Amino acid sequence: MEHSQNKITIAIDGYSSCGKSTLAKALSKHLNYIFIDTGAMYRGVTYFALKNGIIDSEGKINQEQLENEIEHIELNFGEQEANGSRALFVNGVDASEAIRSLEISNYVSEIAAIECVRTQLVKQQQVLGENGGVVLDGRDIGTVVFPNAGLKLFITASPEIRAQRRYNELKAKDSNVDLEAIRANLKHRDLIDTTRKIGPLVQATDAIVIDNSDLNQEEQFELALSYFYKACQQNSNIASDCNY
Ligand code: DC
Repeated sequence: MEHSQNKITIAIDGYSSCGKSTLAKALSKHLNYIFIDTGAMYRGVTYFALKNGIIDSEGKINQEQLENEIEHIELNFGEQEANGSRALFVNGVDASEAIRSLEISNYVSEIAAIECVRTQLVKQQQVLGENGGVVLDGRDIGTVVFPNAGLKLFITASPEIRAQRRYNELKAKDSNVDLEAIRANLKHRDLIDTTRKIGPLVQATDAIVIDNSDLNQEEQFELALSYFYKACQQNSNIASDCNY
């Protein structure tokens, strides 16, 4: 993995299903930066918890067991064997498809609100991004993980548009999806993500807001890229890296 001291860190925060990962992926590809999907890491811990009885059949989370096991949950990004697309491995098992299920989505915000989980994952994210040249998307990147990030974007879109986008995404893989259940899940996650005690979803005071309700992916990408160039110009140390 190549890191460069004179590449910035890009923090992308915002609500669930508002296109953060799509933007982060496009920017990292264009800039040759490393992409870190921090939501996938919280989903990976939730996957482990479900597989190992830390979440019981009634949905109750055994926090003590989670605290004992959290340091043994190994999360690695890599490539899916079948098609070479991005993968998340949880203790060596490819969980890329499983972590996108509605079952995981239903528990992930509760898991992400637990102190030992946040402490462990924030630490891992800081190590992954310590040399710059990274785009991270999440909820607390610009406020907690990298408060000195060179560029902070806060992405938002209307709740109805977010629900419809997530519905279309899931529908492409599974015809049994219910728009109402997705709406309810997004509402539930917004509430937990914004009100939890540690690392709540909140806009950093120096973040630039992009409301993409009326933007397509290209328009959003171009806008974000223009903010990237501005951030580079404001930081003379990295000006030499901005000839993309
Ligand atoms: O981005 P996502 O929907 O895959 O994230 C899944 C959950 O993980 C989301 O409900 C909130 C949580 N999360 C978090 O608390 N902090 C992050 N940095 C990223 C995600």
